[in-house]
Amino acid sequence: MYILLMGPPGAGKGTQAAMLVEKFDIPHISTGDMFRAAVKEGTELGKQAKACMDAGQLVPDSVTIGIVKERLAKSDCKKGFILDGFPRTIEQANALDSTLGELGIKLNRVINISVPADELISRATGRRICKSCGATYHITFNPTSVAGTCDKCSGELYQREDDSEETMTKRLSVYSAQTQPLIEYYQDKGLYTEIDGRQKIDKVLTDIVASLRGE
Ligand code: AP5
Ligand code: MG
Ligand code: ZN
Repeated sequence: MYILLMGPPGAGKGTQAAMLVEKFDIPHISTGDMFRAAVKEGTELGKQAKACMDAGQLVPDSVTIGIVKERLAKSDCKKGFILDGFPRTIEQANALDSTLGELGIKLNRVINISVPADELISRATGRRICKSCGATYHITFNPTSVAGTCDKCSGELYQREDDSEETMTKRLSVYSAQTQPLIEYYQDKGLYTEIDGRQKIDKVLTDIVASLRGE
C-alpha cells in the first residue's frame, strides 16, 4: 500500500500514520521527523532545516527532494509506505512523480485530513511528544494518564519549538499559499480523498482505512 497523507499543520497526519504503520506494517516517512532528527544530530542539513522550521517556513525544495529520493530508494519501501508531509509544493509533487516512476511505484491514495484553521492552533499548542518513543499526545484531546509522562514508555513529554501560536500562524499561511494547490493536483489524477479530521482520532482512522480499501 502506497499512501500519501496530506493536511495542514496539526491536522493529525503523524497520529494517523502511527496507527496505519501498525495496521499495514509499512514504513512511516515524515519529512518533518527527518528534519528534526537532523537538528538533533547537529548536521549541516539540521542547521539549515532548523532555521526554516523555527521561522515556520518550508525547507528549500532542492534539499527536501534530495532526502526523500534517498529514503524512497531503501529496500523497506518496496512493500509500501506512508508519506507524511511530503510533497508540500508543486515542484516536490513533480519530483515525487518522477522518482516513483523510476522506482515503478504507483500511489494507491492521497488522503487529505481536513481541519479548520482555528482548531489547528489549539491542536498544535496543546501537543506533547514523548522524548523517548516519539508518541504524540494532546493535553485536552488525547491526554496521558499521568500529566507529563508517556503512557507507552513512561518517558518525559516535551513541546515542539514550532508549536507556539505565532509560528503556527505562519505555518498555516505557508500551507495555504504553497501546499493547498496540491489538492487540485491530486484531484486531477483521481487519487484524492478528503477525510473529516474534526472527528475523534479512531473515527478518522476508520474513515481512512475505508477509503484505502475502496469502500
Ligand atoms: P511537520 O513535522 O511535518 O509538521 P506539520 O505538517 O506542520 O504537521 P504537524 O506534524 O505539526 O501535525 P500533524 O498533522 O502530524 O498532527 P499530529 O498528528 O501531530 O513539518 C515541520 C516543519 O518541517 C515544516 O514547518 C517545514 O519547515 C519542514 N518541512 C517538513 N516537511 C517539509 C517539506 N515537504 N518541504 C519543506 N519543508 C518541510 O496532531 C497534532 C495534535 O492534535 C496532537 O496533539 C494530537 O494528539 C492532536 N490530534 C490528532 N488528531 C486529533 C483528532 N482527531 N482530534 C483531536 N486532536 C487530535
Ligand atoms: Mg506530524
Ligand atoms: Zn514514550
